[in-house]
Amino acid sequence: MRQLRPVGIIGTGKYVPERILTNSDLEKMVETNDEWIVSRTGIKERHIAAPGQATSDLAYEAALKALESAGMKAEELDLIIVATVTPDSAFPSTACILQDKLGAKGAAAFDLSAACSGFVYSLATATGFIQNGMYNNALVIGADTLSSITDYTDRNTCVLFGDGAGAVIVGEVPEGRGFQSFDLGAEGSGGSLLNLEAGGSRLPASHQTVDDKKHFIYMNGREVFKFAVRVMGSATERVLTKAGLTKENIDLFVPHQANIRIIQSAMQRLELPPEKVVVNVDKYANTSAASIPLALVEAAEEGRMKEGDAVLMVGFGGGLTWGASVLIW
Ligand SMILES: CC(C)(COP(=O)(O)OP(=O)(O)OC[C@H]1O[C@@H](n2cnc3c(N)ncnc32)[C@H](O)[C@@H]1OP(=O)(O)O)[C@@H](O)C(=O)NCCC(=O)NCCS
Repeated sequence: MRQLRPVGIIGTGKYVPERILTNSDLEKMVETNDEWIVSRTGIKERHIAAPGQATSDLAYEAALKALESAGMKAEELDLIIVATVTPDSAFPSTACILQDKLGAKGAAAFDLSAACSGFVYSLATATGFIQNGMYNNALVIGADTLSSITDYTDRNTCVLFGDGAGAVIVGEVPEGRGFQSFDLGAEGSGGSLLNLEAGGSRLPASHQTVDDKKHFIYMNGREVFKFAVRVMGSATERVLTKAGLTKENIDLFVPHQANIRIIQSAMQRLELPPEKVVVNVDKYANTSAASIPLALVEAAEEGRMKEGDAVLMVGFGGGLTWGASVLIW
């Protein structure tokens, strides 16, 4: 069998829009309060894109920083994958728009749709391309502008979401480091628990779909919560086993930032102390595909990983989907 190249992260960058929407701002918009939001979700504030600011704009800022941290020029990229459920438009893909903005001439570019699991799905995809020798350097971004599909009159959802982008450069790393395992999965039967119904080929945009608010996120919070707790546990076990590691080996846990209670349940199961867990849901809320890279990049910027550390990432989301990975930093 052909020897696979070790592949890991060689550059990181992140971006969140300037405008902050706090819980007290939301109190003026819907019947809610800071105490309810913090106790049920752990969220205190979220960043919201400016009018006219689209997902490729957020992705672009994060990408520039990732390229800079890798000491790489855009022309050196072979592949761009943007994980998003809020592309600038149905097509061209946000990755193609970004390829043009960055001047990454010659890079293949496509979007990947796996909702909040999209970043881990994209890492696995890029890793496969690089391991088999097809490409050398990939830009992988999780970017979402959930504010563009959030109904700010629906208290069940509008308190939960924010906008942002996290980017990494994926490439060859020294032996012994990089991605050790992935565990991706889907339960399509749960698709209607978390979705955006209209605007596709099943229900094209019409006056009726707008009147019926079908261009906004719908979520059955309780069912998604149960799914999340279940798959965080099972995906984590599988991905650790595939890497030949146990929970005792985890140096840093980077979970999807949807809800502090879901993160705490995973921490208990893995018996992890707070210093081994990245939490920034309080500042950014749930940013979908951007959530794990925002947490990972922030942890890297804060110097929370050192060379050789075992980093466990796990996400879950619409589809329903999940994605987990073990990375040696
Ligand atoms: C959404 C979520 C925070 C709700 O918390 P919960 O403890 O399940 O709350 P419930 O759904 O039981 O709602 C309890 C009550 O609070 C109300 N409520 C909902 N949103 C509220 C808000 N923002 N402010 C105040 N009250 C609110 C509900 O209307 C309900 O009232 P009722 O009992 O009179 O009908 C929780 O279910 C959750 O986090 N789910 C997972 C979401 C997630 O991770 N999604 C992203 C996946 S990628």
